[in-house]
Amino acid sequence: MSHSGEPRPMTARALGPLRGVAQVPGDKSISHRALILGALSVGETRITGLLEGQDVLDTAKAMAAFGAQVERLGPGEWSVHGVGVGGFSEPAGVIDCGNSGTGVRLIMGAMATTPITATFTGDASLSRRPMARVTDPLALFGCQIDAREGGRLPITIRGVADPVPVRYRTPVASAQIKSAVLLAGLNAPGETVVIEAEPTRDHSERMLRGFGADIRTEVTGEGHVITLRGRPELQAQRVAVPRDPSSAAFPVAAALIVPGSEIRVPGVSRNPTRDGLYITLREMGADITFENEREEGGEPVADLLVRYSALTGVSVPADRAASMIDEFPILSVVAAFAQGATVMNGVAELRVKESDRIDAMAVGLRANGVRVKDTPDSMTVYGMGSVPGGAQVETHLDHRIAMSFLVLGLAAQAPVTVDDGSPIDTSFPDFRPLMQALGADL
Ligand code: S3P
Repeated sequence: MSHSGEPRPMTARALGPLRGVAQVPGDKSISHRALILGALSVGETRITGLLEGQDVLDTAKAMAAFGAQVERLGPGEWSVHGVGVGGFSEPAGVIDCGNSGTGVRLIMGAMATTPITATFTGDASLSRRPMARVTDPLALFGCQIDAREGGRLPITIRGVADPVPVRYRTPVASAQIKSAVLLAGLNAPGETVVIEAEPTRDHSERMLRGFGADIRTEVTGEGHVITLRGRPELQAQRVAVPRDPSSAAFPVAAALIVPGSEIRVPGVSRNPTRDGLYITLREMGADITFENEREEGGEPVADLLVRYSALTGVSVPADRAASMIDEFPILSVVAAFAQGATVMNGVAELRVKESDRIDAMAVGLRANGVRVKDTPDSMTVYGMGSVPGGAQVETHLDHRIAMSFLVLGLAAQAPVTVDDGSPIDTSFPDFRPLMQALGADL
């Protein structure tokens, strides 16, 4: 998505308690992976519950450009006729991944070991983000990469015909780096190995296994060692995408800070590599119950029951950061309504997300009367139980910054405005009607 349209300011103000059922959209990480693995499989993959946000729609379009047959059958229901591992054809045009770091990084990995050439671009936010973290390990397979100054988009990759398998230790905790290397390893002979010091979200590993790849994870003295045997024949699957815990975080947070609220959020993924926010909120005293825990499509899911809660600040350990990396903006909003300081440690990666999220949150919270301390890799929010609000906040093309400050406005003393709510469509297109149906004024 180019975000070339006019900015759409949005304002949130306190009304009454939030009540009802929030059917949040499908998981973004799993949706991207289902389309990509479907395109790399033999046969027809059927996906239900796919997130139809712009990020994922851009990945669907990219898979069609590489030769897969991608069709929308109904709301959230998609069919992908794949071309098999190594079967991608050269796209006719430039691949525009819009706002999506996951989309561009995973797709670059998926095509790097096929002898075709592709050029990738994105919007202003994505064009500022670091790509060398992915292109450096991809170059080890033997492909050629041309990037703009600083390893940024646009990037052209000339895929390699005779790739060599790679053994790679990720320099930062990133599921996108891990996944790009594993997807490239699919079309390399022998074993490709990724070593992670800290475990990151494991959707790629789970789904690769589900599609028939030989992949295993061992915990050794080196860390989490993931080994993939190359050149499998991936078999098309049925994929039921669970609801996104990172999107659920917004109505959950709103219910915790708007007095008198009680909401249910059914069918949310409880994958332990994504669970850090929920652990942290419960440590803060949040009344969240997980009901009807079950497994769906290879992922653990549960129904959430959330009630307004009196919260206390906590210190979030650095080794939990990877399991809640997208949830720090909304945690910092919740922390502003808690009593006492909430310290977020080891969060330097937030500086290279859709925006510099430490800076965006610190500036926006201060403008709304909240005291915040930030360092290169930490942020501390000094909660005082209530928030003055009343400011306009810049969202820097970042959906999670926009949604976080709108949630702040639902419980602040004065309304909060974001300069542009349009990026919300990348991950949570129904955010506004869903929140309104719970009783929110926005
Ligand atoms: C994602 C991984 C994370 C996360 C992003 C989705 C994924 O990024 O922030 O929203 O689907 O693999 P990093 O790998 O850069 O940490």
